[in-house]
Amino acid sequence: MKAVVYQDPFTVTVEDVPDPTIERPTDVIVEITSSAICGSDLHMYEGRTAAERGIVFGHENLGIVSEVGGAVASIKTGDRVVMPFNVACGFCRNCLAGYTGFCLTVNPGFAGGAYGYVAMGPYRGGQAEYLRVPYADFNCLKLPEGTEHETDFIMLADIFPTGYHGCELAAVSPGETVAVYGAGPVGLMSAYSALLRGASRVFVVDRVPERLTKAEEIGAVPINFEDGNPAEQIKQQAGGEGTDKGIDAVGYQAHAQKGGGEAPAIVLNSLIDTVRATGMLGVPGLYVPADPGAPSEDAKRGMLLVSIGKFFEKGLRMGVGQCNVKLYNRQLRDLIIAGRAAPSFVVSHELPLEQAPNAYEKFDKRIEGYTKVVLHP
Ligand SMILES: NC(=O)c1ccc[n+]([C@@H]2O[C@H](COP(=O)([O-])OP(=O)(O)OC[C@H]3O[C@@H](n4cnc5c(N)ncnc54)[C@H](O)[C@@H]3O)[C@@H](O)[C@H]2O)c1
Ligand SMILES: [Zn+2]
Ligand SMILES: [Zn+2]
Repeated sequence: MKAVVYQDPFTVTVEDVPDPTIERPTDVIVEITSSAICGSDLHMYEGRTAAERGIVFGHENLGIVSEVGGAVASIKTGDRVVMPFNVACGFCRNCLAGYTGFCLTVNPGFAGGAYGYVAMGPYRGGQAEYLRVPYADFNCLKLPEGTEHETDFIMLADIFPTGYHGCELAAVSPGETVAVYGAGPVGLMSAYSALLRGASRVFVVDRVPERLTKAEEIGAVPINFEDGNPAEQIKQQAGGEGTDKGIDAVGYQAHAQKGGGEAPAIVLNSLIDTVRATGMLGVPGLYVPADPGAPSEDAKRGMLLVSIGKFFEKGLRMGVGQCNVKLYNRQLRDLIIAGRAAPSFVVSHELPLEQAPNAYEKFDKRIEGYTKVVLHP
């Protein structure tokens, strides 16, 4: 089958690789109809991780079940399913508590597994024609038959639940004001989720014009951080004391203003400044224990200069980590089916799998409006 294969920094190719097979009776094989490219894929693409040549990318996957292992009870051939990016067992202590992003059995020595991702276990990605899904009863979410809502439903694999998770970590409640840093797919989904949860005002910070326009289109207030300190801009509009809640949807590859280069702690520090005393921060943006490409020796070891004193003084709270997609994907699917949510507004490009190399390049440069790409094999 054809698959998107990582070669070297800034190079992926579409190659022939062996078809996946049923390895355990609890597996199914899914014929992929949609697989999205994620900001998290770019960390590998840019050579910022230990990703090795040959990894098949793709953790945001949707398709039709084509083969079913003998021990699978609830999924049959022909079912249309979307998989959380987390690979999870369903029976370990963390899975039982709902923390499927931190499964203790699918990736020995590490809490958490995913498809097509460095250090996240031996699971090939779905930017390909077929995908093997382990523990299929647990990891497949069934979708209505047909092709309706394809680009809405593919958002259930990662970014819609992840944006929602940002709100959950910050306990965003009706009537509150929320500052979201980052208007990439995760930031836009965080802002969208905050509005779904009844936030009164949502500010979205970025500098990419097309992305800020999308934020405005869903009813958020766009804040361009190139126009001046974003915390000050938000506080001015939010009545001085700052917002109730804040979400970091940027992570460690954050940039300083005016071509100041990478500044891995800048968003955390801006949020500590932006959110009012006793507020809460949700951090779905990724931070890593080691980053060979970081701009300082400390940051290379995952150590950032964060204003912990201010954080303490203001009595803030913070939640971090991978999204436990399975906690939310069913409810968010039903919002889509009911016509109450349409997360596909973030999708800028739908392309055939063959065009993945070009799509990666443009998405990585954040040019030509590339915000969220869905590949169709
Ligand atoms: N927790 C999870 O489970 C999970 C899941 C998916 C993605 N992620 C992470 O979420 C983050 C965002 O993902 P994405 O796909 O939206 O990525 P993305 O790279 O497309 O978006 C990040 C955005 O942040 C903006 N940005 C950079 N510096 C900024 C600053 N100082 N202030 C405000 N905005 C700034 C960029 O212009 C960009 O638009 C990444 O770190 C990704 O790895 C986490
Ligand atoms: Zn993703
Ligand atoms: Zn588990």
